[in-house]
This record gives sequence, C-alpha cells and structure tokens, in this order.
Amino acid sequence: MKDNEFSRREFIQIAGGSAVVMLGGHGCALLSKYVAKDMPRSNYKVFSKGKIGGIQLKNRLIKSASDVGATNDDCTYMKEGFEVYKDWSKGGAGLIISGHMTVVPQSSKTFLFNHNLTCIHDDKFIPQLSKMAGAVHDGDKDCKIFAQINHIGMDSTTDPISASSVPWPFVKKKPSTLSINDIKELKNLYLAAAKRAKAAGFDRVQGHGPRGTVSCLSHECQ
Ligand SMILES: Cc1cc2nc3c(=O)[nH]c(=O)nc-3n(C[C@H](O)[C@H](O)[C@H](O)COP(=O)(O)O)c2cc1C
Repeated sequence: MKDNEFSRREFIQIAGGSAVVMLGGHGCALLSKYVAKDMPRSNYKVFSKGKIGGIQLKNRLIKSASDVGATNDDCTYMKEGFEVYKDWSKGGAGLIISGHMTVVPQSSKTFLFNHNLTCIHDDKFIPQLSKMAGAVHDGDKDCKIFAQINHIGMDSTTDPISASSVPWPFVKKKPSTLSINDIKELKNLYLAAAKRAKAAGFDRVQGHGPRGTVSCLSHECQ
C-alpha cells in the first residue's frame, strides 16, 4: 500500500467522523443560496419536519445512500460500519438511506467498484441488519433509516444482467437480457428483501433499480 492510500478500515473511520451528513450536490446548492446572514435556524425549511413514505421526519436532511465498503468476504459487516451509521445518526440527519444491499447472492469481488456488497438476500443476515438499523436508532431515536435494496445489474463483472444486451463501457461483458419471467423473479427477490428489512427494524426500504435493472422493474410495475 502506498503512503497516500487509506486502508478500508481507515477510510470507514474517516468517512464516519467527517461526512456526518452528506447531501447531494443540489441540496448543498440550495442551502448555500438561501442562507442569509443572522437568519435563525428555524427559518430554514430544511430544519422543519417532513414526511416521506407515510412517516414523519424530524427534519429534511437526508443522508444519501453510500456504501462504505464495510462488508467482509463472507458477508459479515464490520464493527466500523455500524459505528459509521451511528455517527451519521448522531450528526443530525432526519433520514439515512443505507448503502445498497444486494437482493441476490453475489460472490465477492464481482462488483465493478471492487468492494463486497452488503447482503440482504437471506434471512440469516437479519441479525446484522438489525444491528445496522439499531445503530441508527441508538444514535438518535428520531432518526429514520431506509434500507436501499438492489441488484447490481450491468455492474456485475461475472453475471451482468440488463433490460438489453448492450454492454456499458465499464464492463465489457455483454449483459444477459431479462425475460418477463426473470423480471417477475427479480421482483419477488426485492419483495423478500423488503420483508427482511422490515423484520430487522428498518423504517422503510428504498428500491434501487440501477444499471439496467430499473427499466425492467418499472415495466413489471405497469
Ligand atoms: C463512496 C460512495 C458510495 C455511494 N454508494 C451509493 C449507494 O450505495 N447507493 C446509491 O444509490 N448511491 C450511492 N452513492 C451516490 C450518493 O448517494 C450520491 O448520490 C452521490 O455521491 C452524489 O452526491 P454528492 O454530490 O453529495 O457526492 C455513493 C457515493 C459515494 C461517493
């Protein structure tokens, strides 16, 4: 490892300590544009209560989904990973969206971005998922957590899938095209994962349909 590179554990610790609440670029722009000098905090709508998916949020600060790379090869989740979730919660967010969690088993290192995926494809992961949701609720009982459930679609370096067989530039392998039956199967896998998230104490789920899977899922919903 070079001097200027972080180990994964160091990265997780630094991310947890500094990026307490991350907003997407637009969120930051909105905040800075309307920040007037001496205006009390209560004047900003971002600090007022919000509602999403039928639940009340203490404010409108939403921690955007970020995978912190805390999953080991055997799908166990590192202690540092739980700590990051607790820190984010303590940092004041009204809602935290978890990093993406795979609804199907994926062998380690099949993900293009070269880290293991957080697992939600089997009931045996419910205890560690409970620990993640619990870390957020322990950090602040009023902070909510949604589980982001997904399939990595075209980003799998071994078994890419997509709505079409057109490969995307980062993964050269042609994706297999999903049939209607595959899509139905995928939908059931998402539903099973959502039930696990509920059992583990997450407040809601966010269905993530990235990298070629979104069009398939929305097709099935119509
Ligand atoms: C390290 C890292 C991990 C991320 N993981 C996810 C993820 O698991 N799911 C997701 O939908 N977006 C993920 N994102 C995207 C972020 O949620 C966010 O949309 C993106 O970083 C843009 O916001 P920014 O301009 O504040 O960085 C990730 C981003 C980063 C930098």
